[in-house]
Amino acid sequence: MLAIIGGTGLTELEGLEIQDEKIISTPYGHCSAPVQMGRYADIHVAFLARHGKGHTLPPHAINYRANLWALKECGITKIVAVNAVGGIRKNLGTESIVVPHQLIDYTWGRETSFSEQGKVIHIDFTEPYTEELRELLIDAGELEGLSVHSQGVYACTQGPRLETAAEVDKLDKDGCDIVGMTGMPEAALARELELEYACVSLVVNPAAGRSDSIITMEQIEKAVERGMGKVRRLIAKALTLQNELEED
Ligand code: HPA
Repeated sequence: MLAIIGGTGLTELEGLEIQDEKIISTPYGHCSAPVQMGRYADIHVAFLARHGKGHTLPPHAINYRANLWALKECGITKIVAVNAVGGIRKNLGTESIVVPHQLIDYTWGRETSFSEQGKVIHIDFTEPYTEELRELLIDAGELEGLSVHSQGVYACTQGPRLETAAEVDKLDKDGCDIVGMTGMPEAALARELELEYACVSLVVNPAAGRSDSIITMEQIEKAVERGMGKVRRLIAKALTLQNELEED
């Protein structure tokens, strides 16, 4: 079954007919919220609010290990992660949708692995996102008539503060296209648990120093409100496509 991890602006999946809410206890502690199991676009799906039900957990305080563990416990095999990001490149204006193909991790101090002493795992992470799932998302966007950027390098910063202009220049030089705070270690933990994983990133502001003004929460909230409708449509279509593939 497929799960959606919702980020900023997607703390609940409007239209999800909830059938069960699972509170999973994990060896790593509590996950951000109960895992909601239900039907969306008439298809079985699970949903987890990454920042908690009332959007109370900042990116660095999220228990990513518990979240991923809980989803695995619920029988999830595929994850579509939604996140809000800043746009580094000029062509990635506010409300652009990107399905990233690569990432660079700039976070620190987060619990990044299930690997413990005596049981070392080195996952291959050459391609951090599952290509088939990425293609599903890109196809869904196209079928919905949405303009979706089918490639992008996602920079994951520590937060919760936004970046300085110089930091964004550095990310740009590193080859990053978008910047967010929640993509890691989520993607790596999914790989450790052998879960398919891909991302839909919604640009909600030009990254720091990429516009004439400073970044305000008000600006971000407005962009989230306008853009998440498109993301919801994309997800509903992706679920329909996935269901068709499974029926074939
Ligand atoms: N930087 C990092 N994370 C973000 C941004 C940003 O500009 N916008 C939304 N999430």
